[in-house]
Amino acid sequence: MDTKTKATLTLDGKSYDLPVHAPTLGPNVLDIRKLYADAGVFTYDPGFTSTASCESSITFIDGDKGELLHRGYSIDELAEHSHFLEVCYLLLYGELPTAAQLSDFEGRVTRHTMVHEQMHYFFRGFRRDSHPMATLVGVVGAMSAFYHDSLDINDPWQREVAAIRMIAKLPTIAAMAFKYSVGQPFVYPKNSLDYAGNFLHMCFAIPAEDYVVNPILSKALDRIMMLHADHEQNASTSTVRLAGSSGANPFACIAAGIACLWGPAHGGANQACLEMLREIGTVDRIPEFIARAKNKDDPFRLMGFGHRVYKNFDPRAKVMKESADEVLGLLGIENNPTLQVAKEMERIALEDDYFVSKKLYPNVDFYSGIILDAMGFPTSMFTPIFALSRTVGWISQWKEMIADKDQKIGRPRQLYVGEKHRKYVDVRHR
Ligand code: ACO
Repeated sequence: MDTKTKATLTLDGKSYDLPVHAPTLGPNVLDIRKLYADAGVFTYDPGFTSTASCESSITFIDGDKGELLHRGYSIDELAEHSHFLEVCYLLLYGELPTAAQLSDFEGRVTRHTMVHEQMHYFFRGFRRDSHPMATLVGVVGAMSAFYHDSLDINDPWQREVAAIRMIAKLPTIAAMAFKYSVGQPFVYPKNSLDYAGNFLHMCFAIPAEDYVVNPILSKALDRIMMLHADHEQNASTSTVRLAGSSGANPFACIAAGIACLWGPAHGGANQACLEMLREIGTVDRIPEFIARAKNKDDPFRLMGFGHRVYKNFDPRAKVMKESADEVLGLLGIENNPTLQVAKEMERIALEDDYFVSKKLYPNVDFYSGIILDAMGFPTSMFTPIFALSRTVGWISQWKEMIADKDQKIGRPRQLYVGEKHRKYVDVRHR
């Protein structure tokens, strides 16, 4: 930590020095760790809009510029030249792999794609009409009941095995959740296929027919996974870190992250966004929905628009939009009405004072659903695909936290506004 300067806080006539840490990129950070002990006050920041919860060297976002870096490499360059498993290696270990390191890593992930056979019975306890995210939260949490040899968070080898297991098995579990929901038999992983191709195979192959993975689709899916791999201290990642700070096992922590991701303000937005675009249906209905989004008395929001950190284009949305054009074009469905509505909606919103003044731009979820839909995924699978892509980010952040010597259990304080001391009144006298 580079501490060059200090800030002074004056409170009730007394002054307190606060160290100011200089990051490698981004705004300086006031260190308030000793504030309560020294000055007897808390800070108040619901939603953590001005609070850095940890030190990290994995991902950097400049929300004003619309820039996203993983270990210093821009997402645009990675999206153009790299692929999902290489980005996984980069996030987990800090450097781009050599050819030998990549092949070893891919081999390790590939050899862990199968799940314990008994897990098949576990799935059967769910209702068929369960949302695949509900199944995912439950099954990933239950991994701690199946893989006892990777639960010891103090053993670096076990942490490593847990990380590889989750990156390898999440696609298998997500595909099983999908198959279960449509009443089809589970399809075992096929390790001759690449990561995205294997997932497509597990989702769409059936025993009665041969399924050949379309390389256009597997490349596009790989890119979607890459664009979702990590995003610094967002809600689900912070959930994983908070759960992990108590020493909980890694499977339980990732299950907590999946639960948080499910919300429509976070990863659930991709499903909500496509459903919204379909509900709008035709370009002529867009003004009606824009008006609703602007109406303070209407809870409706444009899904796939706005971001806590980006006050400019989400760089992932740009790549995703190009991908949508490319994939739909290659599949010969470029006149897809949902894509037309999305593009027109974006054009209108970006010229509208409300969206311009609030710096609301399309986020990663605005176009991803259109691509996933074209691939044949039902909307209920959009968030599970986000979850399996983000697993590497969660695990990388979790591993970084466990290895951090300053790590403590996360325990925020509060601004209490409830009753003061009251005397208990017996039920007969209330
Ligand atoms: N449509 C209409 N108005 C919006 C939208 C939107 N999508 N997003 C924000 N606003 C408005 C708010 O009403 C608010 O207006 P006000 O200042 O007049 O009250 C202002 O913009 C700021 O919004 P906040 O909710 O305070 O911003 P916050 O940073 O808390 O929320 C969020 C960010 C949750 C992403 C929000 O923009 C949103 O709900 N978007 C739609 C859901 C979505 O797409 N989520 C995906 C996020 S990306 C991801 O998780 C992968």
